[in-house]
Amino acid sequence: MSLRITVIGTGYLGATHAAAMAELGFEVLGLDIVPEKIEMLRRGEVPMYEPGLEELLHRHVAGLEGSTGRLRFTTDYAEAAAFGDVHFICVNTPQKHGEYACDMRYVDSAVTSLAPHLTGPALVVGKSTVPVGSADRLARTIAGLAPAGEEVELAWNPEFLREGFAVQDTLHPDRIVVGVRSERAEKLLREVYATPIAEGSPFVVTDFPTAELVKTAANSFLATKISFINAMAEVCEAAGGDVAKLAEAIGYDDRIGRKFLRAGIGFGGGCLPKDIRAFMARAGELGADQALTFLREIDSINMRQRGQMVELARQALGGGPFLGRRVAVLGATFKPDSDDVRDSPALNVAGQIHLQGGQVTVYDPKGMDNARRVFPTLGYAESALEAVRGADVVLHLTEWREFRELDPAELGEVVAARVILDGRNALDPERWRRAGWTYRAMGRPTA
Ligand code: UDX
Repeated sequence: MSLRITVIGTGYLGATHAAAMAELGFEVLGLDIVPEKIEMLRRGEVPMYEPGLEELLHRHVAGLEGSTGRLRFTTDYAEAAAFGDVHFICVNTPQKHGEYACDMRYVDSAVTSLAPHLTGPALVVGKSTVPVGSADRLARTIAGLAPAGEEVELAWNPEFLREGFAVQDTLHPDRIVVGVRSERAEKLLREVYATPIAEGSPFVVTDFPTAELVKTAANSFLATKISFINAMAEVCEAAGGDVAKLAEAIGYDDRIGRKFLRAGIGFGGGCLPKDIRAFMARAGELGADQALTFLREIDSINMRQRGQMVELARQALGGGPFLGRRVAVLGATFKPDSDDVRDSPALNVAGQIHLQGGQVTVYDPKGMDNARRVFPTLGYAESALEAVRGADVVLHLTEWREFRELDPAELGEVVAARVILDGRNALDPERWRRAGWTYRAMGRPTA
């Protein structure tokens, strides 16, 4: 008989994982402690914007017309425990308030709520991003709580999905990493991932600490790559170079590669910033803080870009105060194809200028509701054209396709001054200049 799978936590990671498991052919039960979330999911609605996810839910959620019925949802841990052979823990691990460390309360509570109901053989699989050492601790917690004793095991299986590509990354992962302590656990996970394995996804088997570290190491590397190119952008600003050309040229070396070398206002979102901080905090606890002091610099280079964008805007307005000046901001989300504004560099820049007295008007294709919630005092417009109306300067801060396809001539008709600052190095300077705009990008003073 085919495995039955539960997914605990139905946020970004969990909702996508649950739908993907149903797509792979398993019977799936998703659990969340928030009843409203479960109600939405039962209707096939997704609490966030993620391309393809709603379609996938509609294909599988039980009770929806034409669905396979393989995916159901509950708020009841006893039901989940009775249902599943494999239980994926997909709850979030935010940054602790006022500290760098990772807040483990949701993971801990998922494990302590589930384990006492496990009366038969089961594999609990952690997917959340956690400080190294957590899996070992949680295995002991489970051993102490699960009535089935040694028949219940833990494995660690980090998730590498990117927002905006969550469905694709989950169905066709570029690697599957599993930290296991037994052949049985490995065998079960090979069964769960049989389809992507058959399609060629590498399957990497490790111990617990390595599996936990793979995730934080990968995110630290990506953050480092972005801050590296942003550091080069700062040097290009000082030396009169062009960081986009520089990135292209070093990227041809396939040891370096082209990806993640786009200079601009830096990384944000719910993962990279908090993950590098939690990693530093954990290394400190382990007495290995020296090994990761460089991440402190990666973090400050990144945060500095936001301030530099503000300064570039100030210069574009003649160098004086922002008071009363009109600033249009295109983009509010931390990246395109997402409605996520968590630690968004775009919103941060908009907020800084607003707090200095600038009249800021923001437009984003998908992030307006979330942006309004976290920054209600900013001005918002219903379209890019409306946002730039009367603007003394236009800031391009999230690289949505919609913004690349804007007609510079049309926008030029309604602005007060044709000045655009590209905080993502993603627009075509020539197109804008031909329409009479002054174009300026970060790290490219002369481009
Ligand atoms: C990231 C990791 O990529 C993913 O593997 C992990 O599971 C979760 O964290 P995500 O947060 O969705 O995914 O975003 P990502 O695509 O990595 O982008 C992060 C930030 O870096 C964005 O703000 C983006 O705008 C910025 N970025 C990315 C750059 O500034 N320059 C680049 O060249 C690439």
